[in-house]
Amino acid sequence: MTSATAAIEVALQLCDIGEGDEVITCAQSFFTVLNMIVRRGATPVFVDCDLVTRNIDLGQVEARIGPRTRAIVPTHWPGSLVDMDALYALARKHRVRVVEDAALVIGSTYRGRPIGAFGDLVTFSFHPNKNITSIEGGALVCNDDGEARRIDALRFHGIERLADGTRDVRVPGGKFNLPDVNARIGVEQLARLPQFLAHRRGLVLRYFERFPQGTGCVLPPRPQDGDGQSWNMFCILLPDGSSMSRKAFRDALEKRGIATGVSYEALHLSTLGRQYGYQRGDLPNTERIAERTVTLPLHAAMQAADVDRVCTACAEILPNATR
Ligand SMILES: Cc1ncc(COP(=O)(O)O)c(C=O)c1O
Repeated sequence: MTSATAAIEVALQLCDIGEGDEVITCAQSFFTVLNMIVRRGATPVFVDCDLVTRNIDLGQVEARIGPRTRAIVPTHWPGSLVDMDALYALARKHRVRVVEDAALVIGSTYRGRPIGAFGDLVTFSFHPNKNITSIEGGALVCNDDGEARRIDALRFHGIERLADGTRDVRVPGGKFNLPDVNARIGVEQLARLPQFLAHRRGLVLRYFERFPQGTGCVLPPRPQDGDGQSWNMFCILLPDGSSMSRKAFRDALEKRGIATGVSYEALHLSTLGRQYGYQRGDLPNTERIAERTVTLPLHAAMQAADVDRVCTACAEILPNATR
């Protein structure tokens, strides 16, 4: 596919999700999740996340499942996946589809099996800041031959090839096929995935070694030997009630030549999200993360010394830091 965004859109179309349907998703995710649900004409139903793993709160999902619920769209966070046993038990019990947003976690495993090798529908991104890239690109994985054929058609104008050599369209498709040149780059990158993942994991371990103590920041889950988790981003949470605003922290890093990001804003508090009746206070963990999260640099071209430089800068900037 041309992107994970296209993959999510096609997945929702494949599930015949449209007007009158509800799709449950986590408000601590990227805008595309909200956008694709709304573009299908469906209603997004937001639930909160865990404050440390940032994964969807499945207890809240179950509470929000109703007669109009058609699908759950969870985003897997680097460092720890959504509890897949619980997720699929819920989906089976209530007969709803699952579209896993695995944009950030290619190469992660769950009970020894790679993400995407099982489950319902799984989407990946090959955007340049992901763990492998095709410049732009994405993938939609399914596990049903009939659905694979339907996805093929939805990806390319809805075209079906007939036995007599002509073509037909029954369901309107889009134009989401990955160009061959991008695919060639992606295939090369795929071969190097283990090496890229090992490198990022090494950088994350360095962050855990060198990040200053005493700051009150919440770090992501610490990697454990053999945990099978891949890493794409390294997001910290600044302490609440600190004298330092997030902007001041980010500006101070920027002054030292260190770029940071925000992953993610709260989807339910976006102008679009609020149109579905959400307001501040509805999803406290999502909101706290949206206000206090900072994405520190983590990418394939970095070395341990770069992590050290970021950590030294954090120690200089953050109140109460000790080394
Ligand atoms: C969690 C998540 N899901 C999906 C996407 C969409 O990926 P793409 O840019 O390939 O459409 C992104 C993009 O950054 C993302 O962060």
